[in-house]
Amino acid sequence: MTLSPATRARLDAVKDGLKAANLVDFALVQNELEVAEPRPKAVPCLWKWQDLKPWLGKTYAGMSLAEVHRRTLALANPGFGGRPVATTTLFMSISMYFPGDEAGVHRHTANASRFLLEGSGGFTNVAGEKLVMGRGDLVITPNGQWHDHGNDGATPIVWVNVLDVALVDHLNAVMTEWDYREGPPGARVDRRTQSVLAPADHSAHMFAAGGVVPRFGPETRGHGHHSPMFIYRWAKTRETLNLLRGEAGSPYDGIVVEYTDPLSGQSVVPTMSFRAQLLRPGEETRLHRHPTNTVYCAIEGSGTTEIDGRAFAWDENDLFVVPGWTWHRHLNKSDRRDACLYSVSDLPLHQKLGIYREQERKADGTIFEVVPWPRWREQE
Ligand SMILES: [Fe+2]
Ligand SMILES: [Fe+2]
Repeated sequence: MTLSPATRARLDAVKDGLKAANLVDFALVQNELEVAEPRPKAVPCLWKWQDLKPWLGKTYAGMSLAEVHRRTLALANPGFGGRPVATTTLFMSISMYFPGDEAGVHRHTANASRFLLEGSGGFTNVAGEKLVMGRGDLVITPNGQWHDHGNDGATPIVWVNVLDVALVDHLNAVMTEWDYREGPPGARVDRRTQSVLAPADHSAHMFAAGGVVPRFGPETRGHGHHSPMFIYRWAKTRETLNLLRGEAGSPYDGIVVEYTDPLSGQSVVPTMSFRAQLLRPGEETRLHRHPTNTVYCAIEGSGTTEIDGRAFAWDENDLFVVPGWTWHRHLNKSDRRDACLYSVSDLPLHQKLGIYREQERKADGTIFEVVPWPRWREQE
């Protein structure tokens, strides 16, 4: 909007007075607030495993958990001026735990997740269930659940954390508690870690078959707010991707599956969608964009993701960010090897707010509304 010189002079004349009165004329800030399209702060970014891994050793070799609470390197997207966030909503980091580690118990308002990349025997105890992870296994820690970590293996383990703490921070709602206690009423004692209360593989056994769920107690955890299943094994996810490989799949994501709450069919936590996808040999997906932010981890094979015209070539364990509203597509250029990606996005938030939109850009440059916004958008 262009202001006439007279209007501009009048607004400028009162600007300082308004500021002192804690007021701002809307016309002067309209261009910041009423934008035609999303303007993500995150920028496309790739962290190569070959660069990341040495930093873990340089930073943490010999460092005891008695001194630091967690050994974790946050991925700081350059779009945020050094803040430890990957996108406006998502925090992503890589953690290292040594054999015998005990990382103390706490809980918080952010939803958290771990996806193990290297080593085996790393575990999280979520609300009394000890979840021992192998490569590609996903553990969720819904908000409010006590959790502590450790490593029962013989070698250091590395996993990827993704949390919605960047979002929760925007809501000024970050809360963390450390005063974990156990025992009968009147005899509760402080504990650094939780006792193991659930049998091994409790989550996996209770929800072993998709579409078949137990209807007996006391399986009440979750209360409809999050998945009662705390671990999702990669072997099963990979098997599912393989079973589906003959399907057409998504034109934008190939064979893509979502980790869900087995009771509700919804995302495992209300804020984040966790997914795995298979790009078959030679598969090239179509260019699309959506306002949702996505962080990726390559778990198998290698490929390329084009983001706003730039090619980001990834190999196993590489991490990358596809910011909202950037044109992107995935390519598996191998003619014989599968490529698999694990990803986390803030899609459920956009869906709940009714603001999700998705577009495809055709080869001739025309734009097709895959999911229009508003949903009832009038067609020309
Ligand atoms: Fe935590
Ligand atoms: Fe996408």
